Amino acid sequence: MKATICVLPGDGIGPEVTSKAVAVLSKVASKFGHDFTFNEALMGGIAIDKTGTSLPAESLKTAEQSDAILLGAVGGPKWSDPTASVRPEQGLLQIRKHFDLFANLRPVKAYPALAQHTPLRPDLLDNVDMLFVRELTGGIYFGPRQEQGDGDSAYDTELYTVPEVERVAHVAFRAAQSRRNKVTSVDKANVMAAYRLWRRTVVKVHEDYSDVELDHVLVDACTMYLMTRPASFDVIVASNIFGDILSDEASVLAGSLGMLPSASLGSGTMGLYEPIHGSAPDIAGQGKANPTGTILSAAMLLRYSLGLEAEAKVVEAAVEKTLAAGARTADIAPRGGSFISTNEYADQVLSAIE
Ligand code: IPM
Ligand code: MN
Repeated sequence: MKATICVLPGDGIGPEVTSKAVAVLSKVASKFGHDFTFNEALMGGIAIDKTGTSLPAESLKTAEQSDAILLGAVGGPKWSDPTASVRPEQGLLQIRKHFDLFANLRPVKAYPALAQHTPLRPDLLDNVDMLFVRELTGGIYFGPRQEQGDGDSAYDTELYTVPEVERVAHVAFRAAQSRRNKVTSVDKANVMAAYRLWRRTVVKVHEDYSDVELDHVLVDACTMYLMTRPASFDVIVASNIFGDILSDEASVLAGSLGMLPSASLGSGTMGLYEPIHGSAPDIAGQGKANPTGTILSAAMLLRYSLGLEAEAKVVEAAVEKTLAAGARTADIAPRGGSFISTNEYADQVLSAIE
């Protein structure tokens, strides 16, 4: 098949990891006889430096003319002045909103090869395989706000409407049907009105999915259960901010934040694919970045935007094989143990695609 992919490398380790994911996609294309065109564009801090805005109109146009978007990471100390009116993160929020990518899928799996690497008891990691469905275009990230540079108050508002919760709940229930038929909805309904609406809406949507078990967990308790009984979760549906926080916490189960991919989807096939980690400016340019999260995001791109399930599985299997063979980037190397560079690791994934 023919497909056009917009690549937004962004800042910090973004360019290092996206180039590896592009290499993987190119390899898949030649192996399976597809024709992928990659169009690179500016976004984030680098776009601010070159154009004054984090998502230039030209980049948005490149994205609009694509079947899917592959993104590295945005942000860094250079652009984090709290009084700045232009921030790298604005471009990311804007692009999610522009394409109405309301459902952010973040799968978290514990790899047996990395069980010794987490700070948790290895037996807790048996069968850990969960999927976060994070609401991505609503809630406190986009609610009414008043930002006062040097004033004495500022606010952001957690605002949800019934249709916003309904559509993300449908995504979660449908995902559960092709997994282990269980959805955990995270909220703070004991304190916040927005989350009472969230819970009552999820309960209503659940009426269409009698084959799926639903439970509700308060967000504070959820942080604890993720560490004490992680294998009990199947699909976790959460608001924009709770999904953001909980998925970073859950990355501990996978051995490193660098391992986790994500797909941001709307109602069509257009999607934005990015690792859940940030731009890691402290290790940028040193060959220490773990490209796994971005490579697995590319696998999700094949699956969700291009409908290439077999190809997606080949990429995921190549990553598992590479890890099982002992390849480790710095973040997943045993304490004091040796590790290989981003390039060497990616080369092993590429050869596992043979
Ligand atoms: C993420 C990131 C973003 C978010 C930031 C960079 C705006 O943390 O994708 O999880 O908060 O959504
Ligand atoms: Mn985050």
